[in-house]
Amino acid sequence: MPQATYHFPRGFLWGTATAAHQVEGNNTNNQWWQWEQTGHTNGTSGLAADWWGGRWREDFDRAAETDQNAHRLSVEWSRIQPTPDTWDEDALERYRLMLRGLRERGMTAMVTLHHFTDPLWLFEMNGWEREEVVGLFEKFVRKTVEALKEYCTLWCTINEPNVYTLSGYVMGDFPTKQRGMNLGMQVMANMLRGHAAAYRAIHQIQPEARVGYALHYRPMVAKHPRFPLDALMRKLRYDGLNMAFPSGIGTGVMKTPVGNFQVPEARGTQDYLGLNYYSVDTVSFHLGKPRELFTSSGYPEDADTSEQRFIANIPAGLFDTLKWAVRTYPDLPILITENGVNDSSDDLRRRYLAQHIHQVWRAVNFNWPVKGYFHWTLVDNFEWERGWTQRFGLWGLEVETQKRIKRPSVDLYAEICKENGLSSEMVQKYCPEVFARLFPV
Ligand code: FCB
Repeated sequence: MPQATYHFPRGFLWGTATAAHQVEGNNTNNQWWQWEQTGHTNGTSGLAADWWGGRWREDFDRAAETDQNAHRLSVEWSRIQPTPDTWDEDALERYRLMLRGLRERGMTAMVTLHHFTDPLWLFEMNGWEREEVVGLFEKFVRKTVEALKEYCTLWCTINEPNVYTLSGYVMGDFPTKQRGMNLGMQVMANMLRGHAAAYRAIHQIQPEARVGYALHYRPMVAKHPRFPLDALMRKLRYDGLNMAFPSGIGTGVMKTPVGNFQVPEARGTQDYLGLNYYSVDTVSFHLGKPRELFTSSGYPEDADTSEQRFIANIPAGLFDTLKWAVRTYPDLPILITENGVNDSSDDLRRRYLAQHIHQVWRAVNFNWPVKGYFHWTLVDNFEWERGWTQRFGLWGLEVETQKRIKRPSVDLYAEICKENGLSSEMVQKYCPEVFARLFPV
């Protein structure tokens, strides 16, 4: 049996990613809380993982004790600016405490400034649909970065602007007051403007900052590649989901399925690219889905899928994602800002983790500038419209008792982080079923 270790470069960041609303609990002043109370989600976030009540301490301990050297978290705008005219200094102080907590544990902090939630006051005025949001977001970013700059130099302005707009304005799964593709793209353009304003503001406040955003990138294949309509739909969906925001950042012109938006100030506003990768979609033409531009997406019948077939384990898609990134933006540092799988039994997660990290290793061996990997996520959390039905944590969570339950993947990930690499012994121990694929003779 071959014995080997796939090593990573020194200084590689290994961590997990979280988002404020999903872990903090009692986050009552944003549009998601309201959406949950009106029956749009599978359960309500409630106490979540109770980080606002202080349980971030024990969870950071878990992360540090299992050799993670970084953590990506987000701050909640509605806590920091509960009304348009007030700042909550106590909330900022709590975030300072959390970031200091990471530093004390020897972990690098990455802070996301917008992860799906908006203050209710902003939502009520139709938030990102209006261009005024750009100045409002910049004001919030300035205040927050000023307060937290002592503890963080790695900033993510906006998480998954493509998912925020499409899940809301097209699919209707995320809270919005109105819907429609045109409106959705208008929202995305404003997010791009907001990102650009935040990028400049952060650099003004902290010249050494590294600023980017997190793109949800999904490779796609046509269901029947020889059927022209499937191929066309794949392209339409691919461009609509993946390409709009990056095209805006690359050129200053955001290209969307409903036309181009000129945002010249966005050009070049990234110091790294954050990539959230979960799976590859198989796309086909579907007459019954006008709202989704007559496209439908799924996974191959025989795919290695997670509970509810939510994610298919297709590790090569992560390599393709990284390849797309280095070809699009040569030399730009890349961070994998999210990657993970919903798996309450932790059968799939172990091989998903090993197989995806193996693909990252392949990429770093081409000297592609991948600088870190943040697994989604540390402890089970509130998964948006899917609520508590999906368990993405390395640790499980019993919501009522707040008890954490260690899953076997914890130990696998700890060994990877400690070794700064993936070894044949680890694969043999945690997911022997993929040994021959990862360590071929
Ligand atoms: C991503 C989100 C993150 C989490 C994972 C599973 O799209 O950024 O908050 O819900 O999916």
